[in-house]
Amino acid sequence: MAWHQPALAHEVVEFLAPHPGQVVVDGTVGTGGHSLAILPHLLPGGRLVAVDCDPEALRLAEQRAAEFAPQVTCVHGNFRELPEILARLGISQVDGVLMDLGMSSVQVDCAARGFSFLKDGPLDMRMDPTQGTTADELLTRLSLEELAGILEAYGEERFARRIARRIVQARREQPITTTGQLARLVREACPAAARWGRLHPATRTFQALRIVVNDELGALEALLRHLPDLLAPGGRAVVLTFHSLEDRLVKRAFVQGAQDGIWSVLTKKPVRPTPTEVSQNPRARSAKLRAVERVS
Ligand SMILES: C[S@@+](CC[C@H](N)C(=O)[O-])C[C@H]1O[C@@H](n2cnc3c(N)ncnc32)[C@H](O)[C@@H]1O
Repeated sequence: MAWHQPALAHEVVEFLAPHPGQVVVDGTVGTGGHSLAILPHLLPGGRLVAVDCDPEALRLAEQRAAEFAPQVTCVHGNFRELPEILARLGISQVDGVLMDLGMSSVQVDCAARGFSFLKDGPLDMRMDPTQGTTADELLTRLSLEELAGILEAYGEERFARRIARRIVQARREQPITTTGQLARLVREACPAAARWGRLHPATRTFQALRIVVNDELGALEALLRHLPDLLAPGGRAVVLTFHSLEDRLVKRAFVQGAQDGIWSVLTKKPVRPTPTEVSQNPRARSAKLRAVERVS
């Protein structure tokens, strides 16, 4: 099994600055790469609460962090409900919160999860396969207008209307149930010049559908609303984003919180991976790290 290679792992530890005895939440534990880098700094006496909405990711993280078992509490849940998750554990405030948004490479690389246009699989795209609506259900249900709107808003897709029209036309003949089918339809809908560029023409369509299927921006907004109350005085939050829609929300919330005297922003500009890291881990290329420290 090839684990997800965590982006900006050194920088995450540097900005989170975990100390022995602290309580830290990894709200997107994935397969535990960042958590494993944080855990040794919490010893002795500290605790890591590891949350993920994907039960399979959580199982792998738990296995990988077995040597730290007494220090780790794994919780299946959505980070939008972090206050409730922590309250159930008897925790009201924490010293650190890490959010590494988006999908893990373990999810992308598994054809059966339906995240990748490079692998044929069912059009699912749910990070939490135990609940919610799949991408193929969305494609069946949405009107042409709704589809075009989603592709424009969440994919910033310039051929949104053409793609939406092609999808609606195709689904009259046959339901669209696989990633391969959708990737082909998107390519056909794009003008010839855009079909074979550097970026696969289906990249933005898949991003848009994934964001809607998982209500990614809604979850992030909820988390950002809860963050001021969750952080103990002096506590730090570190957020890694992978596209401009997420980064805009984080930047705005961090600036607003600083103006309200809640925290100070530790990253005037977002921290980006070095060219060396990108060459070793190409999936880190669009990562942006922002961090804040709760005012004491
Ligand atoms: C980029 S991966 C995290 C990788 C992790 N930092 C590591 O080093 O392995 C993002 C993870 O967040 C999870 N996730 C995404 N949205 C979530 C949400 N709203 N609540 C809980 N987990 C979420 C995904 O299932 C995925 O496992």
